[in-house]
Amino acid sequence: MSSSATKSRTRVVTDGPRVDGPRLLRDLAELARFGADDRGGVSRPGFGRADADARRHLIGRAEAAGLAAAVDPAGNLVVRRRRRTAGPALLMGSHLDSVVHGGRLDGAYGVVAALEALRVLAGRDEPLSWEPVMVAFTNEEGARFPQAFWGSMALTGELRDPRRAVDRDDVPIAGPLREAGGDLDRIADAAWPDGSIGAFLELHIEQGPVLERAGVPIGVVTSIVGRTLFEARVRGRQGHAGTTPMDMRRDAMATAARVVLAVEELARSGACRVATVGALNPEPNVPNVIAGQVRLTAELRDTDPARLGAAEVALRAAVDRIATLTGTTIELAPVMRATPVATDAGLRRVIARAGSELGLPNRTVASGAGHDAQIMASAAPIGMIFVPSAGGVSHAPEEHTGDRELVAGGDVLLRAAWELCRLGAIA
Ligand code: GLV
Ligand code: MN
Ligand code: MN
Repeated sequence: MSSSATKSRTRVVTDGPRVDGPRLLRDLAELARFGADDRGGVSRPGFGRADADARRHLIGRAEAAGLAAAVDPAGNLVVRRRRRTAGPALLMGSHLDSVVHGGRLDGAYGVVAALEALRVLAGRDEPLSWEPVMVAFTNEEGARFPQAFWGSMALTGELRDPRRAVDRDDVPIAGPLREAGGDLDRIADAAWPDGSIGAFLELHIEQGPVLERAGVPIGVVTSIVGRTLFEARVRGRQGHAGTTPMDMRRDAMATAARVVLAVEELARSGACRVATVGALNPEPNVPNVIAGQVRLTAELRDTDPARLGAAEVALRAAVDRIATLTGTTIELAPVMRATPVATDAGLRRVIARAGSELGLPNRTVASGAGHDAQIMASAAPIGMIFVPSAGGVSHAPEEHTGDRELVAGGDVLLRAAWELCRLGAIA
């Protein structure tokens, strides 16, 4: 994605708060134990056991630091100082859940760094106009329940049809949400009132190669890609793989394969930037049975909402053609829409200045990954900070960022938060 270098003439300063680097890295390592898998990464899908355990662990860390922790009806973990200012919140955080066989940094890093920043600010006992608050959003990834951005959408009041949320085995979300400390009956209460958030800051690994290639430790995010996620259900006719002649079949698996290729072709033909079928569930999923039904996801991404809309129209047309050709039915239902957003120009300046004052070179970078920040943009100005990802790898166990860069990102978050909270404005 396009990005441009930011030159800074800001003087490096020695005053101001710094994170406790070893503590931040220790917290990150401890969190990685929850859902640690045999591939060296983390499998911590939202609303699973490991996700709930990680949340409980973080509550313990927050309370040990004298902070107040609460889980809202959507399962979001919110941590505050016990003595608060009356001003709006400077909300900082990211998500605790991961993809299956993901890395230990995606989401978790931004949560742990936000906790660290809050801990440092709480310990300074200086007058603040904005109240620093940490949030760990629930189910950003949508690895089990496909409603990605569940927590941030609940917090901004944008969650549509929460009662319809089911996982791939049709398990309703109510039970797992309850185990995570939430409550589906009170989900509307998770929404924060208008004006209660002064700004939202999210620190995250880049998940792409730009910063590493440029040798720059800090990225100031300019924009976040838009994303539409569909669930498709192909219905054919289950039958015997040996006795059913080819001209009598309504094979849901072969039809799903055509849908997979049609989705890929949307991006290859330039209709949108990227398009992916990442999950496919055939039934009954047995070698000698023609599949009667297949559920699959289709995900489209682009930075231009008009192109995203046009790609959706093209996808629907392709799916209709495939259904007619194969004698099957295909339902295509949107499960999540996140529009492309630009970050706040003032917060970009605050972040770049914080980096420069810390002596950390920084540059602008666009995000091809989705983030809770793009949902938060409807409620408050948003800013995002990136640190380099080794080899640009993410959503894989090999996800890695050096310790020094992780601590540097934490320092930039803290310094930006410190400035914003003291001033109570974006300057
Ligand atoms: C978020 O993890 C994404 O899929 O971009
Ligand atoms: Mn992710
Ligand atoms: Mn993430």
